[in-house]
Amino acid sequence: MSDGDLSVSADRLSRVFGSFVAVADASFTVPRGGVTALIGPNGSGKTTLMLMLAGLLTPTSGSMKVCGFDPVTQNYQVRSRVGWMPDQFGMWDSLTAREALTMTGATYRLSAEHRALRASELLDLVHLVEFADQPAHVLSRGQKQRLGLARALMHSPQMLILDEPANGLDPRSRIELRGIVRQLADTGTTVLISSHVLAELDEMVDDAVFLSAGRTVARETVRDARLSRSTWHVRAIDKDPLVNWLEEIHVPFALGADSSVSVNISGEENAARFLRDALAQDISIVEFAPRGGALEQTYLQLNEERR
Ligand SMILES: Nc1ncnc2c1ncn2[C@@H]1O[C@H](COP(=O)(O)OP(=O)(O)OP(=O)(O)O)[C@@H](O)[C@H]1O
Ligand SMILES: [Mg+2]
Repeated sequence: MSDGDLSVSADRLSRVFGSFVAVADASFTVPRGGVTALIGPNGSGKTTLMLMLAGLLTPTSGSMKVCGFDPVTQNYQVRSRVGWMPDQFGMWDSLTAREALTMTGATYRLSAEHRALRASELLDLVHLVEFADQPAHVLSRGQKQRLGLARALMHSPQMLILDEPANGLDPRSRIELRGIVRQLADTGTTVLISSHVLAELDEMVDDAVFLSAGRTVARETVRDARLSRSTWHVRAIDKDPLVNWLEEIHVPFALGADSSVSVNISGEENAARFLRDALAQDISIVEFAPRGGALEQTYLQLNEERR
């Protein structure tokens, strides 16, 4: 992949706080125009890494290019191309939702007319029109989160960096967030997103970078993660014929509380064959699905270091 196809290339990026190494030699790329997830346990360095990419925190060592520029030496070029949505939305409480957006537009030197228009458009997109002229402090947590997304989009950035954007959102808002993210990516915006809700990411992202204790430990596309899933959930109307058959063919399984079984089958091809064979035995299967999400299985296989 040439540099022009990449929105981020990070090479041995590190950040130290005192003697504590928060990010250690992180190396990865983010392709232009897709959705990439940054996944890792608490304290693995996701927020620290995102702050460095957004040009808001200086790395201790290493190098990076974001949208073609160096966040350290070409900070304005990066900040004018990147939209940043922090996990905790802080803002001047006395401003209204609309003012918060137009103020942000002003910092990006948008004209007054453009600011007003863009603010209205985004308030509509995140369903805050009815709160537009309320002071931002009356907004609920999820509404503030949605205002944070609108703020990150104010200058129509080439790349969006979203730190746990679904935090505090109700189910409908989460679905809408997924729609907005996918739509932005489909029209050419690059999205880098962190979240702990991996099942949600499965439906939204193209690939994922995994962090553990500040290091980039794995990278996987969702398509590959799906292909390599190995634990499958099977439930039959009557469990006995299923269990007898599994014993007969020597496939290891674990029986669940609801009479479903978990079987280890590596890869989707083998899973499809397993299902065909089971049906050929007249076993009345009513549920057959991968256990957990694709990214979740990869995550759990990693040697996780929580801190
Ligand atoms: N300003 C700071 N000063 C000192 N230590 C810090 C600072 N910022 C982050 N750290 C430490 O660096 C590590 C990584 O923190 P970071 O916030 O990047 O993790 P995270 O992956 O975003 O975690 P979470 O999933 O909980 O949001 C943590 O152990 C944290 O305590
Ligand atoms: Mg964080």
